Formats: sequence, structure tokens, C-alpha cells
Amino acid sequence: MKRYEKREWKESMKITMDFNNMMSEVIGDEQGISKASIDQLSDRLKEAAQAMKDKRKAGKMDFRDLPYNQKDIVKDLIDTANKIKDRFDAFVVLGIGGSALGPIAVQQALNHMHYNELSKEDRGGYPRLYVVDNVDPERMDALFDVIDIEKTAFNVITKSGSTSETMSQFLIIQDMLKTKLGDKYQDHIIATTDAENGNLIKIAKQEGFKTFFIPRGVGGRFSELTPVGLLPAAVCGIDIEELLAGAAYADELSSVDNVYENMAYMAATLQYLAMKAGKNISVMMPYADSLKYMADWYAQLWAESLGKRYDLEGKEVFVGQTPVKALGVTDQHSQVQLYTEGPFDKVVTFLGVGEYRKTMEIARGYEDIPAVSFLGGHTLNELIHAEQAATEYALLKAKRLNRTITLPVVNAFTIGQLLYLLEVETAFAGELLNIDAFDQPGVEEGKNATYALLGRPGYEEKKQELDSRPKKKEEYII
Ligand code: PA5
Repeated sequence: MKRYEKREWKESMKITMDFNNMMSEVIGDEQGISKASIDQLSDRLKEAAQAMKDKRKAGKMDFRDLPYNQKDIVKDLIDTANKIKDRFDAFVVLGIGGSALGPIAVQQALNHMHYNELSKEDRGGYPRLYVVDNVDPERMDALFDVIDIEKTAFNVITKSGSTSETMSQFLIIQDMLKTKLGDKYQDHIIATTDAENGNLIKIAKQEGFKTFFIPRGVGGRFSELTPVGLLPAAVCGIDIEELLAGAAYADELSSVDNVYENMAYMAATLQYLAMKAGKNISVMMPYADSLKYMADWYAQLWAESLGKRYDLEGKEVFVGQTPVKALGVTDQHSQVQLYTEGPFDKVVTFLGVGEYRKTMEIARGYEDIPAVSFLGGHTLNELIHAEQAATEYALLKAKRLNRTITLPVVNAFTIGQLLYLLEVETAFAGELLNIDAFDQPGVEEGKNATYALLGRPGYEEKKQELDSRPKKKEEYII
């Protein structure tokens, strides 16, 4: 029996959210959210909870079924990962946005912090992982200094199958592989995309690439628990079945209608009320390097899902909350000054860890200098916990809204849980804001403008529109 099949173990791994410091009873009436204001929303909350269920039933929230409907795919993923492990030294993800941020976040959370620098043996025989989530020519060029493409597998990931960044990365790699390997290049490429739509699936079929599919109803930023994230994770030795088990547990926890018993719903409700009160910035501050890129992943999820011009009735609403990424304790020495004394426009979410996977003792020394020697005999674990508690206290004292999400320990189960809970929180916040949390017209606009600028056929009108934009004045360029 796997550990995640045991109820007791699962419960011991439950993520908690402490929202004391969001509440007026604790943080004061001026900034805090009162229980009465949550209760006044009760009809709206019930409607939103019902809409979550209705949409799920109607197949409009397919990310929620991912923990359950991928058994055969998981087998294929593990099998493919094993073949890659046997044959390749490096695995490179070509993708951007929702096709890159999840793989980066999960790898950072669950593998060694210097994974790529370890010897193959110390990596358990698994290949190194690189995620090319940009089109910076210097970075792309630098990649070829650290990989041998003959010993590298490339995973092209794009839901739409047409994103310029990803397709450019793909064209570069394909050309290099063909030059080196001729017709035998195909088994160096795996395509993860929509099963029917887009150019990548056409190309993959034509070239004979191995393919994995992103379910039609799962958008980029909600796709980490599809082959988008599962393949890179499996290739690097992460237990993807445990990841999905964590998500299934989170589904159980976030399927309760009562907001006081549903962490994801409560979190969304508090953020919604905070937004209404002008808190337009959502800071995520993990106190663990392992969770550093969770804040990046969350930033896309929160920004693209909730930053909307129109509500569902087509009324202009201009809603959303700007996500900011910070890292505890590093950013205590950079941003916390602003958080405690700047404008009252933020909600800070601390991501904490109950127990770190390692313990590091601070050596004793300089007994004659008490201001230094007091550190000796403690551990870095105690220090980082104390710093998190101290920052939380500083924010409380300055009456700044903050909440703490704690993972008992970082493992595949808690990471699956966290990803899923934050996705449900986002979807529920979308319901409360009465917007479509699953589209991204603002991103599409930028993508289309890029196509037009680079001369993609069919985008001539967009090119004309761009050409008629106001000309830049020399006087404003100094
Ligand atoms: O969430 C989204 O849909 C987007 O941010 C996409 O992830 C991003 O634009 C990349 O798109 P694609 O996977 O189609 O290449």
C-alpha cells in the first residue's frame, strides 16, 4: 500500500491556511475583514459554490477531474520517462507561460536544489532538466554549451500549438537535430499539445513524434497536472501518482460548500473582499527556496485568470489583483519595508513549511560577543521559522492583511494538493468576480500582434492596425 493510500498519512499531510491576520478581530476594523462581511455575502457564496458544481458537471471545469481521469496516461508517461532515462542525459522543455511555469515550480519543489549540477548517479540516473521559457537568443545559445543534443530529448509543449516563442524554439531544435541525425531525429522530440487543434499536432503526426495531449477543456495555466507537468516531473524521478493523489485529496477538501470548511473558497472570499477594499496587490512570499517558483506559477494563474476587462454580462469591470513574487527571508531585506509602511494595497500570502527536509545546525562561536554567539546552538530551521513569524508579526503590527498557508512538509503529495487548492481558489474568485477565469484575451492580443509584426499570413489587417499606432516622438526618447 502506498503511503498516500492511507487516510491517516493523508490527514497528516493536510495543508492548512491561517487567516487570523485577515480578520478585523485580529488586525483591527480599519483594514481587517469582519466575519459579518463574510456572512453578508452568504447568498453570493452559495451561488458561486453551486456554479462551481454546475460548471464541473457541464464539463466547463475540466482541471478538476485531472486527479481521476488519467490512469492510462500516467502509465504511458512513466513508461516514456523510463525510456528517456535510459537513453538521454538531458531533457529540455520548450514552452512558455502555462506550458513552462508548472514544470519549473514542481522540479524546484521536489528535486535537489542543484539537481542539474549533481552527477548522473546522484540524480538517480535521471536526465538533467532545462526549461526554455523565453526566446532570449543569448540564453538559447547558452543552452547548447551545456547539452549535447544527440543525448537530449526535447518536449515541445504548447496547448494552442501555435505560440511564436515555442514554435521558434522548436524550429531551431528541429533543424539542429535534423542536421546532426538526419531522418533518425524524430525520437528526440515529444510533443504535448491539443489532440486535434493547432499546428503542432499536424507537425507531430507528419513527423511521427511521440505525443501527449492536453485535455481540450484545460487551459495552459491550469494544465500542470496534465502531461504538461507530469512528463517533465516523471522524467526527473518525481512520483507523479503521489502528485495526483495530493490533488485528489485537495479536491475532497475543496468540494465542501461551506466556506468556513473549505480553504480554497475561504481564501478566494477573503481576497475578493480585500479587492473590494482596494487591496489590488497579492504578494506570495514562500519561506522555502523549494517553493520559490510556486510564486511564479501562482502569479500567472492569478493574473491571467482574474485580470479582466469585462464581466460575464459584458459590462466593463476592470478587475484583478496584481501578483507579486517575493521570497522569505531574502525579500525581508528588499520588499518588506514597503509591505509594512507603504500603501495599504496588499494582501501577503506566506507559504510556510512545517518541517524542512534537512536540518542545519548553526555552529557555536565567539562566546565573548553575545550578539553573535546567541545564534550558535540554534538551527537554520529555527532561524527561518523565527524570521517568518517575525515578518508576520511586523505586518500584523502595521495592520497589513496577511495569511499563512503551511505545507506540513514539501513532498509530491503536498505539492499536488497546493497546486490544486490554488487553482480552485482562483476559479472560485472568478465566480465571485463574475468573470471568465479561463480565457485570456489580453494575452491573445499580444500573441496576434507578434504574428502580425513577423508577417504571419492572415494577420495583414492586424499589421495595418499596428502600423497606424501613434508614431514615437523623438523628444520623448532621451
Ligand atoms: O494560460 C494560458 O493559456 C497562457 O498563458 C498559455 O499558457 C501561454 O500563452 C502559452 O500558450 P500555449 O501553451 O498555447 O503555447
